[in-house]
Amino acid sequence: MDAKIVLLPGDGIGLEVVSQGHRVLEAVAERKGHSFEFEEHLIGGCAMDQVGDPFPPDSLEACQNSDAVLLGAVGGPQWDDPQAPVRPEQGLLRLRQELCLYANLRPVHAFPGLSGSSPLKPEKVEDVDMLIVRELTGGLYFGKPRYREQHQGQLRAVDTMVYTESEIRRVVRLAFQLARGRRRKVTSVDKANILECSRLWRLVANEVARDFPDVEFEHQLVDSAAMRLIVSASSIDVLVTSNMFGDILSDEASVLSGSLGMIPSASLGEGKLGVYEPIHGSAPDIAGKGIANPLGAILSVAMLLRHSLGLEDGAKAVEEAVAAVLSSGGRTKDLGGDLSTSEMGDAVIGQLDTLL
Ligand code: IPM
Ligand code: MG
Repeated sequence: MDAKIVLLPGDGIGLEVVSQGHRVLEAVAERKGHSFEFEEHLIGGCAMDQVGDPFPPDSLEACQNSDAVLLGAVGGPQWDDPQAPVRPEQGLLRLRQELCLYANLRPVHAFPGLSGSSPLKPEKVEDVDMLIVRELTGGLYFGKPRYREQHQGQLRAVDTMVYTESEIRRVVRLAFQLARGRRRKVTSVDKANILECSRLWRLVANEVARDFPDVEFEHQLVDSAAMRLIVSASSIDVLVTSNMFGDILSDEASVLSGSLGMIPSASLGEGKLGVYEPIHGSAPDIAGKGIANPLGAILSVAMLLRHSLGLEDGAKAVEEAVAAVLSSGGRTKDLGGDLSTSEMGDAVIGQLDTLL
């Protein structure tokens, strides 16, 4: 098949991990006779430095005209000044909003041989297999008004959490649909004992649940859900939640898989176009050293093949290649090993040779 794929490496280790994801895509294309066309564009702090805009119009246009986007990470200490009027992260938020990517899928599961890499006891992480579905274009991240002002002799800041029924319905519905392909359980996470948005979330989620009588459904408050992720995460199948709670809980949950560097994500909307990115950040402390774990980006490539290109066999092959590398002891530094970023890419591509 023919596909146009935009690469947005961004900042820090984003460059290193996207370049391995790119190699894996090329390897799949070569072995399966696909023709993938790649275009690289700017996003984040590097885009601010080069063209004064964290998500320049030609980057947006390229994404809109593509079949899928592979993104690295944005941000870094040089752009972290709390007084700065523009930040790299705004580029990422604009990308999500402009493409209407309202659902962010973050699968978290135990990988072969990695239970020892988690700070949690192996028996707590061995059976974990969950999918976090994070709402991505609403809530506290986008609510208006938001501002900082002088108020009664001191600075005061305001953010707004806002959700409409339809924003909640579409993401909860997707969570239920995805649960049907898994263990048929949905846990909806909110703070309905305090927040009006969460009470609406609950009402709408209950309505959606009525259309899925074959799926087990429960609500959980976010504070107790945070604890459950540590105490009994294997009891969770699909966890659906708002933008802010999903951001926080997915970093927490990544610890179960052994390393934040392992977790991929897919940001999806109504059509096939999606943005795929590892959930880790730009990791400025290790950027440029060639030691970042590229597996989150490589597993994001698997999600890209599956969700945007409909290439399930390619997706499975990439996932199996990663599992095979881990089973044979391949480890980057975050997993207690000494493979470099590109050696890990080599190892995955080597496995693809036997799988495709
Ligand atoms: C993530 C990141 C982003 C977010 C940042 C970089 C804007 O933490 O994708 O989880 O908060 O959504
Ligand atoms: Mg995050």
